[in-house]
Amino acid sequence: MKVFVTKTIAPEAVAFMKEAGVEVTEWKERRELEPEELIGHCMNHNALLYAGHGKLDRRFLDTCNHLKVIALHSVGFDNVDVKAATDLQIPVGNTPGVLSAATAETAFLLMMAVSRKAFYMHRRILNGEWGFSEPMDNLGISLQGKTLGIFGLGKIGMELARQATAVYNMKIIYHNRRHNEEAEHTYGAAYVSFDELLAQSDVLSVHAALTPETKNTFNTQAFRKMKPGSIFINAARGGIHQEDDLIAALNDGLIWGAGLDVTNPEPMKADNPLLKMPTVAILPHIGSATVETRTAMAMIAARNIVAGLKNEPLPHPVNPEVYS
Ligand code: DGY
Repeated sequence: MKVFVTKTIAPEAVAFMKEAGVEVTEWKERRELEPEELIGHCMNHNALLYAGHGKLDRRFLDTCNHLKVIALHSVGFDNVDVKAATDLQIPVGNTPGVLSAATAETAFLLMMAVSRKAFYMHRRILNGEWGFSEPMDNLGISLQGKTLGIFGLGKIGMELARQATAVYNMKIIYHNRRHNEEAEHTYGAAYVSFDELLAQSDVLSVHAALTPETKNTFNTQAFRKMKPGSIFINAARGGIHQEDDLIAALNDGLIWGAGLDVTNPEPMKADNPLLKMPTVAILPHIGSATVETRTAMAMIAARNIVAGLKNEPLPHPVNPEVYS
């Protein structure tokens, strides 16, 4: 049994698959595979361990319908046509749970960085602009006791709520498809309508999955309803915000700042105006990028591969319907 791994992953996970008798081919070139190259490699393998955000669409799945399992090295699976995989009886696995803390930390880091213009100040020092400063120069916004609005309060949002209440005594409000009773009980989180979330949040942090319903949710119409002094954070998927609208909202003072770990599109181009704005902080989609988290993600993906190749149910399937 052979698995094709699209990027270099934690060696523990490769060793685990080899010990289970799986022949592992790792793609070692530091570039994204072209769709036809990916298909070419999959043709010689029984399983795919996919790290990346490229599309695994119906055409790919139809062509590679011999795959016994696809294990994603991510919790998000918006890049996969899950319906097509299910129609073709291909189990798809993801890596839930293990990246909640790291991703929430990234959102927290962005919130702090934006509120104190940290990335911009760093750039100024690099440019030799420390120089003279007045007491009223470069002021940030305090986060103490402010209202944190969470759009999509699942595991990552819960972790962010824990950090924000513990460190800044922030008040938590949220908008979800359904109520999160644990968050209401543990962090006093209050469920609000989407418009209330926009109107009341001092910091609004996005932690929802990218779906047809959430795509482009944060557009000019939404930014107009936010507080003028508020901060927008997105550490989920860039497709949930409209980037041109965000740039305009910041330029027009509809909101105060923004912190993004995900951009729309990715990768962000170096000439994007957001990179020059004082109250903006951008990271290159590194929400889960800690040694501990990436190792845990790779191990889950490896376990999904081994189970799939043994015709056993995946420990973490996104389409459990393939077993019914
Ligand atoms: C995920 O796991 O979905 C993160 O965005 C990393 O890709």
